[in-house]
Amino acid sequence: MAHREVPEIDFDHHSEAYGRDPWAANTELLTKCPVAHSRHHGGFYVVTGYDQVADVAKRPEVFSSAHELPNTPGRPQGTIIPATTFRALPLEMDPPEYLDWRKALNPFFSPKVARQLRPRIQAYATWCVDQCIEKGEMDLVLDLASAVPALLTLDMMGLPMDNWRLYADAVHSLAFTPSGTPEYQQVALGFGMLLKEVQEMIPRRRADPKGDLVSFLTQLEIDGAKINDEDILATCAAMIAGGMDTTTALFASAFEYLDRDRAARRRLIEEPAMVPKAGEEFLRYYTPVVCVGRTAMHDTEIDGVPVSQGERVLISWAAANLDPEVFPDPLTIDFDRDTRKSAAFGIGMHRCLGRHIAMTDFDVVVNEVLRRLPDYELIEGAAERYRTVGQINGYVKMPARFTPGPRTGPDAATAGELLPELKLDL
Ligand code: HEM
Repeated sequence: MAHREVPEIDFDHHSEAYGRDPWAANTELLTKCPVAHSRHHGGFYVVTGYDQVADVAKRPEVFSSAHELPNTPGRPQGTIIPATTFRALPLEMDPPEYLDWRKALNPFFSPKVARQLRPRIQAYATWCVDQCIEKGEMDLVLDLASAVPALLTLDMMGLPMDNWRLYADAVHSLAFTPSGTPEYQQVALGFGMLLKEVQEMIPRRRADPKGDLVSFLTQLEIDGAKINDEDILATCAAMIAGGMDTTTALFASAFEYLDRDRAARRRLIEEPAMVPKAGEEFLRYYTPVVCVGRTAMHDTEIDGVPVSQGERVLISWAAANLDPEVFPDPLTIDFDRDTRKSAAFGIGMHRCLGRHIAMTDFDVVVNEVLRRLPDYELIEGAAERYRTVGQINGYVKMPARFTPGPRTGPDAATAGELLPELKLDL
């Protein structure tokens, strides 16, 4: 293919301008320049067309996810632009090492496991709604959409539930609090406490394994050797950062949409089995994980645009999901559309490991709301979207009111009392 010159654009995925309306910005980019270059954050290529995004995602030998620390220009710098100071596993790994890791982790995240987690997710969703239903008001993000994934994540990791609210709020706030602010210090402290709890648990679970993820990781053998504590922590950190607020963002977007489109809400109330299908369309349209980064390991090209070794490349799942060549009338939410090509969970070998769990979570939590708070209404002007969506496109908070109803779950004072210890049949 003949080389073509790449358009230079003033694009920053972390800017408030982009955060205000990523749909308009993505539509413009993917129709005008599906591959472009931006000088922000040390310079990177921006890829928005569906085919171009898929091309990059399916060439891991050229477009690396690996992350060498300390970050050095020209070397692989992971999946976030600008690069973070920690490494997430197995996300920031390349084949062949990556393939062994993914194979070893798959059993803990299979559809079979998601099915076994369903009653636990249900217990947490019921408990969260029970805490507010008699009052007739709740924050759909803070009291539910952030709470259930947090409780489930602590449960899966085998951690005590005592600090769940602190950790839920910290991980949620991490997604939208600008670094360098006093609020960020507080948030980072909460996240650090959570990781410290995981770290302290690793030797205990090595000595006395139970049914949780940390125990599973301590017993895992990759290439004939047990994985070390540092890598176990990096895997749990990825699970927390990658699994909690992403799911929260998806729930919140769905609640906001169903507040506006009452016919769609009625349809889902009448057909609860339709909720997972609607979830796939919400995932496509809102794409909670907006974009990820790669590093070019050789001189190459994307759709005829030359890219040199060491350059950083941002692939936009959100833009790819609006490509009209693949999703006709992409700005319309249509529960009946074919979403099989959706890029929301990624494309290629790094496709989301937690997707079966996330979709089970969505089915349970959204159906709980539609069944028990069928007339919920967002309090006008009170919902707040993230000001920047460089990593996750979600909501800070979403106060709502509804007709009060009765509690239906067991009379547990804390979420930790709800369930017996986790034991999965892998
Ligand atoms: C709606 C919710 C979620 C969305 C939109 C989402 C999105 C994604 C995307 C786009 C990727 C690919 C990243 C890349 O190619 O660089 C990914 C990977 C991953 N996700 Fe999710 N995710 C969600 C929920 C979860 C949950 C609940 C978990 C854990 C329980 C999880 C764990 C992971 C892990 C471990 C990876 C790395 C997989 C690998 O590198 O092989 N995610 N996710």
